[in-house]
Amino acid sequence: MIIDGKAVAADIRGRVGEAVTALRAEHDLQPGLAVVLVGADPASEVYVRNKGKQTVEAGMQSFEHRLDVDTDESTLLALVEKLNADPAIHGILVQLPLPDQIDEDKVINAINPDKDVDGFHILNAGRLATGQQSLVPCTPAGCVILARRALGDLSGLDAVIVGRSNIVGKPLAQLLLKENCTVTIAHSRTRNLEDVCRRADILVAAVGRPNMILGDWVKPGACVIDVGINRIEGENGKTRLVGDVDFASAEKVAGSITPVPGGVGPMTIALLLANTVVAACAINNIEAPDLFK
Ligand code: GUN
Repeated sequence: MIIDGKAVAADIRGRVGEAVTALRAEHDLQPGLAVVLVGADPASEVYVRNKGKQTVEAGMQSFEHRLDVDTDESTLLALVEKLNADPAIHGILVQLPLPDQIDEDKVINAINPDKDVDGFHILNAGRLATGQQSLVPCTPAGCVILARRALGDLSGLDAVIVGRSNIVGKPLAQLLLKENCTVTIAHSRTRNLEDVCRRADILVAAVGRPNMILGDWVKPGACVIDVGINRIEGENGKTRLVGDVDFASAEKVAGSITPVPGGVGPMTIALLLANTVVAACAINNIEAPDLFK
Protein backbone atom coordinates (compact mmCIF):
# COMPACT_ATOMS: atom_id res chain seq x y z
CA MET A 1 0.00 0.00 0.00
CA ILE A 2 1.22 3.46 -0.86
CA ILE A 3 0.31 5.84 1.97
CA ASP A 4 -1.42 8.92 0.54
CA GLY A 5 -0.05 11.75 2.70
CA LYS A 6 -1.67 14.32 0.44
CA ALA A 7 -5.14 12.93 1.16
CA VAL A 8 -4.54 12.61 4.92
CA ALA A 9 -3.16 16.17 5.03
CA ALA A 10 -6.23 17.45 3.16
CA ASP A 11 -8.45 15.66 5.68
CA ILE A 12 -6.61 17.31 8.60
CA ARG A 13 -6.73 20.74 6.94
CA GLY A 14 -10.48 20.28 6.47
CA ARG A 15 -10.91 19.60 10.19
CA VAL A 16 -8.65 22.54 11.05
CA GLY A 17 -10.88 24.73 8.87
CA GLU A 18 -14.00 23.53 10.72
CA ALA A 19 -12.34 24.19 14.07
CA VAL A 20 -11.41 27.72 12.95
CA THR A 21 -14.97 28.40 11.77
CA ALA A 22 -16.27 27.33 15.20
CA LEU A 23 -13.69 29.45 17.07
CA ARG A 24 -14.60 32.51 15.03
CA ALA A 25 -18.36 31.97 15.46
CA GLU A 26 -18.43 30.93 19.12
CA HIS A 27 -15.45 32.77 20.62
CA ASP A 28 -14.77 35.61 18.17
CA LEU A 29 -11.26 34.16 17.94
CA GLN A 30 -9.31 34.00 14.66
CA PRO A 31 -6.04 32.09 15.09
CA GLY A 32 -3.00 33.87 13.62
CA LEU A 33 0.29 32.38 12.46
CA ALA A 34 3.49 34.40 11.93
CA VAL A 35 6.24 32.95 9.76
CA VAL A 36 9.71 34.50 9.72
CA LEU A 37 12.13 33.83 6.88
CA VAL A 38 15.69 35.12 7.01
CA GLY A 39 17.41 35.12 3.60
CA ALA A 40 16.10 33.73 0.34
CA ASP A 41 16.85 29.99 0.27
CA PRO A 42 14.68 28.79 -2.66
CA ALA A 43 13.33 25.67 -0.86
CA SER A 44 12.46 27.74 2.22
CA GLU A 45 10.74 30.32 -0.01
CA VAL A 46 8.47 27.60 -1.40
CA TYR A 47 7.63 26.30 2.10
CA VAL A 48 6.88 29.78 3.42
CA ARG A 49 4.65 30.60 0.45
CA ASN A 50 2.69 27.36 0.89
CA LYS A 51 2.36 27.93 4.63
CA GLY A 52 0.90 31.39 4.06
CA LYS A 53 -1.53 30.16 1.42
CA GLN A 54 -2.80 27.19 3.44
CA THR A 55 -3.08 29.30 6.62
CA VAL A 56 -5.45 31.69 4.83
CA GLU A 57 -7.37 28.81 3.22
CA ALA A 58 -8.01 27.40 6.70
CA GLY A 59 -9.58 30.72 7.74
CA MET A 60 -6.66 31.90 9.87
CA GLN A 61 -4.61 35.07 9.71
CA SER A 62 -1.17 34.78 8.13
CA PHE A 63 1.69 37.16 8.89
CA GLU A 64 4.93 36.91 6.93
CA HIS A 65 8.21 38.56 7.83
CA ARG A 66 11.06 38.39 5.35
CA LEU A 67 14.42 39.58 6.58
CA ASP A 68 17.63 40.13 4.68
CA VAL A 69 20.22 37.31 4.70
CA ASP A 70 22.68 39.48 6.70
CA THR A 71 20.17 40.43 9.41
CA ASP A 72 21.87 40.39 12.80
CA GLU A 73 20.76 38.32 15.77
CA SER A 74 19.49 41.25 17.86
CA THR A 75 17.20 42.42 15.03
CA LEU A 76 15.67 38.95 14.75
CA LEU A 77 15.31 38.66 18.54
CA ALA A 78 13.55 42.04 18.61
CA LEU A 79 11.09 40.83 15.97
CA VAL A 80 10.42 37.64 17.97
CA GLU A 81 9.71 39.77 21.06
CA LYS A 82 7.26 41.87 19.06
CA LEU A 83 5.45 38.75 17.81
CA ASN A 84 5.42 37.30 21.35
CA ALA A 85 3.60 40.42 22.55
CA ASP A 86 1.10 40.62 19.66
CA PRO A 87 -2.33 39.26 20.76
CA ALA A 88 -3.38 38.58 17.14
CA ILE A 89 -0.56 36.04 16.82
CA HIS A 90 -0.94 32.59 18.38
CA GLY A 91 1.78 30.74 16.48
CA ILE A 92 5.34 31.80 15.61
CA LEU A 93 7.55 29.87 13.23
CA VAL A 94 11.09 30.94 12.41
CA GLN A 95 12.12 29.03 9.30
CA LEU A 96 15.34 27.02 9.76
CA PRO A 97 18.18 26.92 8.92
CA LEU A 98 19.21 30.45 9.92
CA PRO A 99 22.33 32.17 8.56
CA ASP A 100 25.61 31.54 10.43
CA GLN A 101 25.72 34.88 12.27
CA ILE A 102 22.56 33.93 14.19
CA ASP A 103 22.46 31.46 17.11
CA GLU A 104 19.52 29.20 16.23
CA ASP A 105 18.99 27.90 19.78
CA LYS A 106 18.89 31.42 21.15
CA VAL A 107 16.18 32.45 18.68
CA ILE A 108 14.07 29.30 19.20
CA ASN A 109 14.22 29.70 22.97
CA ALA A 110 13.23 33.38 22.71
CA ILE A 111 9.85 32.38 21.24
CA ASN A 112 7.03 32.33 23.82
CA PRO A 113 6.66 28.54 24.40
CA ASP A 114 2.86 28.93 24.25
CA LYS A 115 3.25 30.21 20.65
CA ASP A 116 5.98 27.74 19.67
CA VAL A 117 4.01 25.88 16.96
CA ASP A 118 7.20 24.10 15.81
CA GLY A 119 7.55 22.56 19.27
CA PHE A 120 11.29 23.30 19.19
CA HIS A 121 11.57 25.39 22.39
CA ILE A 122 13.47 23.57 25.18
CA LEU A 123 10.39 23.78 27.39
CA ASN A 124 8.22 21.98 24.82
CA ALA A 125 10.99 19.44 24.07
CA GLY A 126 11.31 18.79 27.81
CA ARG A 127 7.57 18.52 28.31
CA LEU A 128 7.32 16.02 25.44
CA ALA A 129 10.21 13.97 26.86
CA THR A 130 8.58 13.84 30.31
CA GLY A 131 5.07 13.07 29.07
CA GLN A 132 3.61 16.50 29.85
CA GLN A 133 1.19 18.44 27.65
CA SER A 134 3.20 20.30 24.97
CA LEU A 135 3.19 21.65 21.46
CA VAL A 136 4.57 18.80 19.33
CA PRO A 137 6.92 19.15 16.31
CA CYS A 138 4.90 18.97 13.09
CA THR A 139 6.86 16.51 10.95
CA PRO A 140 7.16 13.83 13.67
CA ALA A 141 3.47 14.25 14.52
CA GLY A 142 2.69 13.71 10.82
CA CYS A 143 4.81 10.54 10.73
CA VAL A 144 2.91 9.02 13.67
CA ILE A 145 -0.48 9.81 12.15
CA LEU A 146 0.54 8.15 8.86
CA ALA A 147 1.90 5.08 10.66
CA ARG A 148 -1.32 4.80 12.69
CA ARG A 149 -3.45 5.10 9.56
CA ALA A 150 -1.42 2.29 7.94
CA LEU A 151 -1.07 -0.05 10.93
CA GLY A 152 -3.74 0.89 13.47
CA ASP A 153 -2.51 0.39 17.05
CA LEU A 154 1.30 0.73 17.18
CA SER A 155 1.66 -0.80 20.64
CA GLY A 156 4.58 -3.23 20.98
CA LEU A 157 5.94 -2.66 17.48
CA ASP A 158 9.68 -2.24 16.78
CA ALA A 159 10.31 1.26 15.42
CA VAL A 160 13.67 2.22 13.94
CA ILE A 161 14.32 5.89 13.20
CA VAL A 162 17.34 6.62 11.03
CA GLY A 163 18.41 10.18 11.91
CA ARG A 164 18.85 11.94 15.27
CA SER A 165 17.95 15.57 14.56
CA ASN A 166 16.15 17.81 17.04
CA ILE A 167 13.52 18.53 14.36
CA VAL A 168 12.60 14.93 13.48
CA GLY A 169 14.55 12.00 14.97
CA LYS A 170 14.58 12.87 18.67
CA PRO A 171 10.99 14.14 19.02
CA LEU A 172 9.69 11.27 16.86
CA ALA A 173 11.34 8.80 19.24
CA GLN A 174 9.38 10.40 22.11
CA LEU A 175 6.09 10.23 20.19
CA LEU A 176 6.61 6.58 19.22
CA LEU A 177 7.46 5.74 22.84
CA LYS A 178 4.13 7.30 23.76
CA GLU A 179 2.54 4.90 21.23
CA ASN A 180 4.20 2.04 23.17
CA CYS A 181 6.69 1.19 20.42
CA THR A 182 10.15 -0.20 21.15
CA VAL A 183 12.24 2.61 19.71
CA THR A 184 15.73 2.58 18.23
CA ILE A 185 17.40 5.77 16.97
CA ALA A 186 20.04 4.89 14.40
CA HIS A 187 22.48 7.38 12.86
CA SER A 188 25.67 7.75 10.81
CA ARG A 189 27.79 5.94 13.43
CA THR A 190 25.39 3.01 13.91
CA ARG A 191 27.08 -0.34 13.30
CA ASN A 192 25.34 -2.79 10.95
CA LEU A 193 22.72 -0.20 10.00
CA GLU A 194 21.17 -2.53 7.45
CA ASP A 195 20.58 -5.23 10.10
CA VAL A 196 19.13 -2.67 12.49
CA CYS A 197 16.73 -1.46 9.79
CA ARG A 198 15.68 -5.05 9.00
CA ARG A 199 14.33 -5.41 12.56
CA ALA A 200 11.84 -2.56 12.10
CA ASP A 201 8.08 -2.95 11.91
CA ILE A 202 8.09 0.84 11.42
CA LEU A 203 11.13 2.20 9.59
CA VAL A 204 11.50 5.98 9.46
CA ALA A 205 14.19 7.57 7.30
CA ALA A 206 15.18 11.13 8.21
CA VAL A 207 18.79 11.58 7.18
CA GLY A 208 18.74 13.74 4.04
CA ARG A 209 20.62 11.27 1.83
CA PRO A 210 18.91 10.47 -1.48
CA ASN A 211 17.82 6.84 -1.94
CA MET A 212 20.09 5.62 0.87
CA ILE A 213 17.80 2.95 2.32
CA LEU A 214 17.40 0.03 -0.05
CA GLY A 215 14.64 -2.54 -0.42
CA ASP A 216 16.70 -5.33 1.12
CA TRP A 217 17.11 -3.30 4.34
CA VAL A 218 13.33 -3.46 4.79
CA LYS A 219 11.58 -6.24 6.71
CA PRO A 220 8.82 -7.77 4.54
CA GLY A 221 5.50 -6.13 5.40
CA ALA A 222 7.05 -3.21 7.34
CA CYS A 223 5.63 0.31 7.31
CA VAL A 224 8.21 2.65 5.75
CA ILE A 225 7.96 6.39 6.42
CA ASP A 226 10.28 8.54 4.31
CA VAL A 227 10.93 12.02 5.69
CA GLY A 228 13.67 12.87 3.16
CA ILE A 229 13.16 15.57 0.55
CA ASN A 230 16.20 15.59 -1.69
CA ARG A 231 16.56 17.44 -4.97
CA ILE A 232 18.61 15.44 -7.44
CA GLU A 233 19.51 15.84 -11.08
CA GLY A 234 17.22 13.71 -13.30
CA GLU A 235 18.10 12.13 -16.66
CA ASN A 236 16.86 15.11 -18.65
CA GLY A 237 18.89 17.65 -16.67
CA LYS A 238 15.82 18.70 -14.68
CA THR A 239 15.88 18.39 -10.88
CA ARG A 240 13.46 15.99 -9.23
CA LEU A 241 12.53 15.17 -5.64
CA VAL A 242 13.48 11.85 -4.07
CA GLY A 243 13.35 10.59 -0.51
CA ASP A 244 15.94 8.91 1.70
CA VAL A 245 14.43 5.55 0.74
CA ASP A 246 14.98 3.92 -2.63
CA PHE A 247 11.26 3.76 -3.40
CA ALA A 248 11.47 1.41 -6.40
CA SER A 249 13.12 -1.40 -4.43
CA ALA A 250 11.50 -0.70 -1.03
CA GLU A 251 7.94 -0.63 -2.30
CA LYS A 252 8.27 -4.29 -3.38
CA VAL A 253 9.07 -5.38 0.19
CA ALA A 254 7.20 -2.94 2.43
CA GLY A 255 3.62 -3.52 3.57
CA SER A 256 3.02 0.23 3.37
CA ILE A 257 5.26 3.10 2.29
CA THR A 258 5.09 6.87 1.90
CA PRO A 259 6.04 8.34 -1.50
CA VAL A 260 8.16 11.46 -2.07
CA PRO A 261 6.61 13.83 -2.91
CA GLY A 262 3.09 13.30 -1.54
CA GLY A 263 3.91 11.47 1.70
CA VAL A 264 5.20 13.16 4.84
CA GLY A 265 5.75 16.55 3.15
CA PRO A 266 2.10 17.71 2.97
CA MET A 267 1.53 16.52 6.56
CA THR A 268 4.02 18.99 8.02
CA ILE A 269 2.06 22.11 7.04
CA ALA A 270 -1.29 20.50 7.94
CA LEU A 271 0.02 19.86 11.47
CA LEU A 272 1.48 23.36 11.67
CA LEU A 273 -2.05 24.66 11.09
CA ALA A 274 -3.38 22.19 13.68
CA ASN A 275 -0.77 23.40 16.19
CA THR A 276 -1.80 27.01 15.56
CA VAL A 277 -5.40 26.12 16.48
CA VAL A 278 -4.15 24.24 19.57
CA ALA A 279 -2.02 27.24 20.62
CA ALA A 280 -4.86 29.74 20.04
CA CYS A 281 -7.20 27.58 22.15
CA ALA A 282 -4.68 27.09 24.97
CA ILE A 283 -3.87 30.82 25.14
CA ASN A 284 -7.62 31.55 25.42
CA ASN A 285 -8.47 28.67 27.81
CA ILE A 286 -10.66 26.94 25.23
CA GLU A 287 -10.70 23.17 24.84
CA ALA A 288 -9.22 22.24 21.45
CA PRO A 289 -10.64 19.45 19.26
CA ASP A 290 -8.37 16.44 18.56
CA LEU A 291 -6.84 17.22 15.18
CA PHE A 292 -4.06 14.65 15.47
CA LYS A 293 -5.66 11.56 13.99
N1 GUN B 1 13.15 23.75 8.26
C1 GUN B 1 12.93 22.47 7.86
N2 GUN B 1 11.89 21.94 8.54
C2 GUN B 1 11.45 22.89 9.38
C3 GUN B 1 10.39 22.95 10.33
O1 GUN B 1 9.64 21.98 10.56
N3 GUN B 1 10.26 24.11 11.00
C4 GUN B 1 11.08 25.17 10.79
N4 GUN B 1 10.89 26.27 11.50
N5 GUN B 1 12.07 25.17 9.91
C5 GUN B 1 12.24 24.03 9.21
